Amino acid sequence: MSEKTSVTLNINGRNFSIQVEPRRTLADAIREDCGQTGTHIGCEHGVCGACTVIVNGEPVRSCLMFAAQADGKKIRTVEGLARGDELHPMQRAFMEHHGLQCGFCTPGFLMLAVGVLEREPDIGDDELLDVLSSNLCRCTGYQNIIKAVRAAAAEMRGSK
Ligand code: FES
Ligand code: FES
Repeated sequence: MSEKTSVTLNINGRNFSIQVEPRRTLADAIREDCGQTGTHIGCEHGVCGACTVIVNGEPVRSCLMFAAQADGKKIRTVEGLARGDELHPMQRAFMEHHGLQCGFCTPGFLMLAVGVLEREPDIGDDELLDVLSSNLCRCTGYQNIIKAVRAAAAEMRGSK
């Protein structure tokens, strides 16, 4: 077994100092070492997007990144979206537009959409659809996810 290395993950503003093997994925570290289980793991090889989190402002598939690569970086997960009892506009829009069924893919879609819209608020609709097509959902048929993201995008632009 490889020697463990010390890593500090800053997740939603809180530091978690953990010991991990060099090949520990960020997804496993977030869930198992830091107890933040809102981030889901599906395929574990970069295909489904369920594990998407935001690292230093960029949506990232956390199953494709080593925890050690995220040392000292600012990580945001679904647990950090709401402000107290107030849901993020993206979370509210997913509820209002029925953008989830089983919910397995939802944290990944939320973090992908929020990450992209924060970075590029005026992204065109075609580009937005292109971005969303990178994550998989087995339940919804995507239409309600797209409606939800469009609605939240309009709200996020309005509150700039
Ligand atoms: S679990 Fe990371 S992309 Fe599927
Ligand atoms: S809501 Fe079930 S996988 Fe998307």
